[in-house]
Amino acid sequence: MSQRFESLVAREARVFLPVVKRLPVVLVEGRGARVRDVDGREYVDLTGGWGVTAIGHSHPALVAAIAEQAGRLMQTTNLFYTLPQLDLAERLLAVVPDALTRAFFVSSGAEAMDGALKLAHRATGRTKFVSTTQSFHGRTLGALGIIGQEKHRVPYQRMVQEGCFVPFGDLDAAARAVDADTAAFVVEPIQGEGGVHVAPAGYLAGLRERTRAAGALLILDEIQTGIGRTGRWLALEHEPLPDGSGPVVPDIVTLGKGLGGGFPIAGFLCTEDVAKTVSLGDHGGTYAGNPLACAAADTVLRVIAEDGLVARAAELGARTLGRLHAFAAEHPERAGEVRGRGLLLGMELRDLDAAATLSQRAVARGVLVNVTAGNVLRLFPALNIPEHELSGALETVLDLIAG
Ligand SMILES: Cc1ncc(COP(=O)(O)O)c(C=O)c1O
Repeated sequence: MSQRFESLVAREARVFLPVVKRLPVVLVEGRGARVRDVDGREYVDLTGGWGVTAIGHSHPALVAAIAEQAGRLMQTTNLFYTLPQLDLAERLLAVVPDALTRAFFVSSGAEAMDGALKLAHRATGRTKFVSTTQSFHGRTLGALGIIGQEKHRVPYQRMVQEGCFVPFGDLDAAARAVDADTAAFVVEPIQGEGGVHVAPAGYLAGLRERTRAAGALLILDEIQTGIGRTGRWLALEHEPLPDGSGPVVPDIVTLGKGLGGGFPIAGFLCTEDVAKTVSLGDHGGTYAGNPLACAAADTVLRVIAEDGLVARAAELGARTLGRLHAFAAEHPERAGEVRGRGLLLGMELRDLDAAATLSQRAVARGVLVNVTAGNVLRLFPALNIPEHELSGALETVLDLIAG
């Protein structure tokens, strides 16, 4: 480690709230799928800024749009109409199922979840929320109540209104838990932080049926899976209704991460029936619909559409999934199940000690990669990562796993 690195670490140790265990890299620049550290070393980023930099780090169109909007109008309040928010809402609603007709924008995924929970309460008058074990929905006090990962929820148990938790993928358990008191069932189509678990076929359709029968809503958390990541604009598109009339459409969908491509913006969409239940003043926020954030997100959506990145995520993801399957078959003592869709992929690692140090060892070889849920290698790079960069960095990581 350089002297410069050591001195930055020492400075931070004096001032930063120690709640994060960091990897030994100080990042200063990013372009496309590559980032550079303070000592000039380059890394291929297989974390995509945590599933956020959908069009790569500092895409020139995004940088230009942010600069242009910053020079025009950076902030006002939702008391006034603004153009970027309107453009974004229209562009976003045009790529999701028709039944989702309304949008509201906030700054982070957890805030979007809070908004969705409030909306479900308004629409149903009920207070019980059912969610899944190992789920992740954010860290605000509202979102913590429905987060299935106990390590995040339990320390704040006395401050949150706890939901009811059922195993992910278990329709019978869901059917038993959703009752006449239930405001909504909240679920990720693919549990990301929980270990890249894909909802089994028919699960979302079953949840749709059960929630409707109980007068409850279905909230789909697409904060990690949305905006093209799984090879569809929304992951719900992978789940057809039993009668083939289209995909399962929830009452509320939350989005974040890739929506802003790195600019902090998130949001929630809902159906007209749900939208009808709100009253003026029900929700808001100083930065809700911020023009700068909306201009950024509008540009991200435009670039994804123009560059065909949704289809690319599907194709590149399928090839990468194939490589992971082949590796797991060749090294059954090192790797287990391979899961995921598009460019949200996971592979179970058998050696927990090796899994715990993999990210750090990968850094030393010029790759940023994540291990989630303790033993799952997770890949969620930029949707436009050059194929040779993805495959080269992946081979480096697989080499480390093979030992
Ligand atoms: C599925 C899901 N929901 C919600 C969140 C929370 O989003 P944020 O960290 O922007 O609050 C995350 C973040 O990882 C997520 O993956």
